[in-house]
Amino acid sequence: MRKKIVAGNWKMNLLNAEAIKLFTEITTSLATVKNVEVLAFPPSIYISELSLIESKIGLGAQNFYPKDKGAFTGEISTAQIKNIGVTHVLIGHSERRAYFNEDHSFLKEKVNSALDYSLTPVFCCGEPLEIRESNTEFEYVKNQLIESLFHLNETDIQKCVIAYEPVWAIGTGRTATVEQAEAMHAAIRSWLKEYYNETIAASISILYGGSCNASNAKELFSNPNVDGGLIGGAALDATSFLQIIKSF
Ligand code: 13P
Repeated sequence: MRKKIVAGNWKMNLLNAEAIKLFTEITTSLATVKNVEVLAFPPSIYISELSLIESKIGLGAQNFYPKDKGAFTGEISTAQIKNIGVTHVLIGHSERRAYFNEDHSFLKEKVNSALDYSLTPVFCCGEPLEIRESNTEFEYVKNQLIESLFHLNETDIQKCVIAYEPVWAIGTGRTATVEQAEAMHAAIRSWLKEYYNETIAASISILYGGSCNASNAKELFSNPNVDGGLIGGAALDATSFLQIIKSF
């Protein structure tokens, strides 16, 4: 049985005290939650402090530089995030692809570096609006996976989580329909079967992201191939985030 996961990507939001308050509120309410893995991806500067709070929430990093150490002013290495208690990393988020020019080969390097440090890659894929409007979204997303993820061997691919985040649904209030989400998730699972095998395809969690909130999570998560969510805006409010977690 693959894991059900709800992850909050806090992006570049919250000041220190707000981050601690949110993390603490979610932690307190998680006592009654079972069978769902909950992750938070706060801004990296808060991770050390959050790691001191005893919590069932797994800590993830939104970004890292895939080198051990060195003269890379302003960057944080894979070794450094591992060292402060991070267990998961986002790789391939559309905002990093678009605003920071992270291309397929750099994302592949990040995947490899994360695995070298036993960090779980949450690999994000998803098409922009013009690709969906030209009906080429399946080829587009498959190519993202082939270029940066499907080079992994059978052992390593099973350590990854995939998140499908259609770019046109991120932060826009426009969510993929249940049918659109399920169609892409089923396609991703079929490619895992094509490149690996059926057992591996069945074991990898595929999360949906893009304006997922307390009102639509239940419907989205009821899809057989949707194993949870990667939540942006709605993860910044403990009540909404908790409702999403309880949508399974
Ligand atoms: P929103 O939930 O704000 O649309 O963001 C989704 C996202 O990008 C999560 O990584």
